[in-house]
Amino acid sequence: MRAVWITRAGGPEVLQVREGPDPVPAAGEVRVRVRAAGLNFAEVLARQGLYPDAPRLPAVVGYEVAGVVDALGPDTSGPAPGTRVMAMVRFGGHADVVCVPSAQAVPMPERMTFEEAAAIPVNYLTAYHMLFRVAAVRPGERVLVHMAAGGVGIAVLQLCRTVEGILTFGTASASKHAALREEGCAYPIDYRTADWAAEVRRLTGGEGLDVVLDPLGGADTRKGYALLREAGRLVCYGFANLSGEGGRSYLRVAAQMVQVPLFNPISLMNQNRSVAGVNVGHLWHRRDLLGEELAALMELYAAGAIRPRVSATFPLERAAEAHRQLQERRNVGKVLLVP
Ligand SMILES: NC(=O)c1ccc[n+]([C@@H]2O[C@H](COP(=O)([O-])OP(=O)(O)OC[C@H]3O[C@@H](n4cnc5c(N)ncnc54)[C@H](OP(=O)(O)O)[C@@H]3O)[C@@H](O)[C@H]2O)c1
Repeated sequence: MRAVWITRAGGPEVLQVREGPDPVPAAGEVRVRVRAAGLNFAEVLARQGLYPDAPRLPAVVGYEVAGVVDALGPDTSGPAPGTRVMAMVRFGGHADVVCVPSAQAVPMPERMTFEEAAAIPVNYLTAYHMLFRVAAVRPGERVLVHMAAGGVGIAVLQLCRTVEGILTFGTASASKHAALREEGCAYPIDYRTADWAAEVRRLTGGEGLDVVLDPLGGADTRKGYALLREAGRLVCYGFANLSGEGGRSYLRVAAQMVQVPLFNPISLMNQNRSVAGVNVGHLWHRRDLLGEELAALMELYAAGAIRPRVSATFPLERAAEAHRQLQERRNVGKVLLVP
């Protein structure tokens, strides 16, 4: 097998493709020949040594793959060898072969490409879970998402389009605003040239938002919380502010950490606000939750309501370029590794 190893914390140059023997599936596992693997912001953070969930380095990360089952472990009844599956792994997905618990390997619809299938689990389950289970969005609400042109951001915009009258606000670099509009974003906001919170206040006539989806952390979480109107919900799901275009900086990390807001239940009560957190990587084993959500996503895919937007694909040998795309903010949609 070949896999992309993070050899130590650092820039994209620490990534290395190494060869090794194929893994043997354990009881209850299937082995998947990977045709496409999703690259996520979490893995860019892991490479920089900024992701607490990452395995100890050196390691192979990767949360999601699409490919073909080629072997079953003992006591495993399926999916049968030859089945095209999308699979939720933790970790090891950035490789040409990976073993995964059979319940986390789900047969792909016939029409779906491997690239699309590898772009769905993390981005769309995160977006779906936040919008429909945690924030329980309702028709006509106002929803803000940051990193709106990234993988999760675009999934959020597409899913919001499936609910009547939702008005979406999305922060992104100005060059990506046309793409955001194509995905249904009513108000793209250029956070690089304007104070995004002031812009939201202006656009909503001072009323604020019903739902804020926050993958940035630190001071931005605080600003998002302040924008909630009555019955507003803040969903925290990332800390991208820990990462900069130039790489890891302890000063930046410290400056962000001291700005993390602390929430007081009495204020939440009196302001009629909710704060929630989501980490889908910690839910991979919860087939009861995610199975239902994935089934709903497959129906939306079949109906043409959602379609992953692939920004770029890279062979394993060029994983460093893939990481740079995300870290240097050049992607619109999903970046994939294609062994
Ligand atoms: N909790 C969960 O379960 C979960 C699951 C998936 C993702 N996440 C989180 O969701 C966020 C988005 O993930 P993703 O994989 O969708 O992102 P992505 O596709 O990697 O998006 C990257 C884009 O985000 C924008 N951006 C804003 N601030 C940035 C920063 N500090 N560094 C780099 N890019 C920045 C850039 O676009 P502009 O040019 O427009 O700024 C960049 O192109 C991350 O915080 C990630 O950790 C959480």
